[in-house]
Amino acid sequence: MKKIFALALCAVMMLSVLAGCGGKSDAPADNTPAQNEPAATPDAAPAPEAGGTIGVCIYQFTDAFMTTYRNALQEILEGKGYTVTVVDGANDQAKQNEQINTFITQGVDALIINPVMTSAADQIISTVQAAGIPTVLINREPSAEQMAVYDKLVYVGCDAAQSGTFQGELILETPNGGDINGDGKVSYIMVQGDPENIDAQLRTEYSVKALTDAGVEVEQLNLTRGDWMRERGQEIVANDLAQFGAQVEVVFCNNDDMAIGALQSIQAAGRKVNEDIYLVGVDALDAALNEVSNGNMTGTVLNDAVGQATAAVEQMEALLGGKTFAAGEQSVYVDYVKVTPDNVADFMG
Ligand code: BGC
Repeated sequence: MKKIFALALCAVMMLSVLAGCGGKSDAPADNTPAQNEPAATPDAAPAPEAGGTIGVCIYQFTDAFMTTYRNALQEILEGKGYTVTVVDGANDQAKQNEQINTFITQGVDALIINPVMTSAADQIISTVQAAGIPTVLINREPSAEQMAVYDKLVYVGCDAAQSGTFQGELILETPNGGDINGDGKVSYIMVQGDPENIDAQLRTEYSVKALTDAGVEVEQLNLTRGDWMRERGQEIVANDLAQFGAQVEVVFCNNDDMAIGALQSIQAAGRKVNEDIYLVGVDALDAALNEVSNGNMTGTVLNDAVGQATAAVEQMEALLGGKTFAAGEQSVYVDYVKVTPDNVADFMG
């Protein structure tokens, strides 16, 4: 009985969300049924073609993780009947600002924005606020203070510190806790994403903190920014292995694409992951899941693109239904999950 009530409530809520979007669709503004048309009854099925127009801004299409994410967003939104336009900011904040302005001029019902630069959040927020467009920010989290100025704004992402902690735990859980040469300390190199991005900052900090919190002595041989890119991961690790050789026991990469590049250099240097070096990433890209299952990566951390896309659309629909967000309650997090050879099969296929 409860279930039926809940379902009915859902249906009513969906209808009200759809009604909320109607104003800016192509339908005539006057929604009064024509004389001979039967009035909608409460048990009438919702119109399948309903929905509004949604603009999605992605910081850079060539980013491997954001490609999975944007495909998921597009599929979910289109599956719900929205008209979606997804644009590539090409890692250029000025270009993305223009794209946001164009969407506003076109009269989109809502925006989903993956900022190019977190430092541009103030400007992005004041632009969407001035236009009164309900907006979901994704993937690059602004501060709570920055978001607090606009109540039709919400951030959907993950708690980046958690992914760093999980990376550190992956190393702690290896047979020798990362100290392959038994000298009493874990010597590592850090391949960082774009350091302007909080995910890069917190993964760098918390991966190592998990070790030191467990009382493990660490030595950082090098830290280099790789801007999330596979080729950079490859170059950096090739250089570091040439410079530090067998001293390198652990390679921390802030994401999987850089870890896949790192693996190429590890193999080219004749090293063997999980025997004489450890390698961890974040994202659980398909390529990384394969390497974890083959034993060529120690582990990764699921950055749940589909879960985040689903949550982003849910929040967008809540905004379209009239929800507003109180200051300090504008971040919605999806959990990261540690991926090891033991559970990797659950994430594949
Ligand atoms: C992902 C990276 C991605 C970055 C883009 C991070 O959460 O782990 O793979 O490049 O987001 O902002």
